Amino acid sequence: MKFFVISVCVLLFPFIANAESVWDKPKESLPVAMASPEIKVYRSATCKCCKGWIDHLKKHDFTVIDITVDDVSPMKHKLGVPMGTQSCHTAEIGGYTIEGHVPADDIKRLLKQRPKNIAGLSVPRMPVGTPGMEMGARKDPFNVISFDKEGKVDTYNEYWTY
Ligand code: CU
Ligand code: CU
Repeated sequence: MKFFVISVCVLLFPFIANAESVWDKPKESLPVAMASPEIKVYRSATCKCCKGWIDHLKKHDFTVIDITVDDVSPMKHKLGVPMGTQSCHTAEIGGYTIEGHVPADDIKRLLKQRPKNIAGLSVPRMPVGTPGMEMGARKDPFNVISFDKEGKVDTYNEYWTY
């Protein structure tokens, strides 16, 4: 009996480990001319949730250039991430800056529409439930924020605003 229980756990483990995330099913497709677009991600080597976000991007057909740095702050400054919208990692894609755990679908919409008045997107801090920040069933409501070159922010998308 004991053996049976153990073997079931071993058999189930791969399925539990690969449990589907709410973020797995893409709603937005990439622009036709942009197959597997390259995104440069700057993160600290010890950041686990950054790795989770990178995995999310890969699942959604992005080619990730994973760059580990000692301090991400200079990159945030260089790429114009406004104070107060900062998170863990900072990324660059197609001339836009992506800060924090922004869902792949929002990045795809940005690349398709290529708005001129937007310099980048951010999910400030690290809300639980965002891609790479999954912790069981908990989902904190969060907004994807857009910012322009002057640091002016706006709401780009809203999630789980109950
Ligand atoms: Cu993070
Ligand atoms: Cu991160």
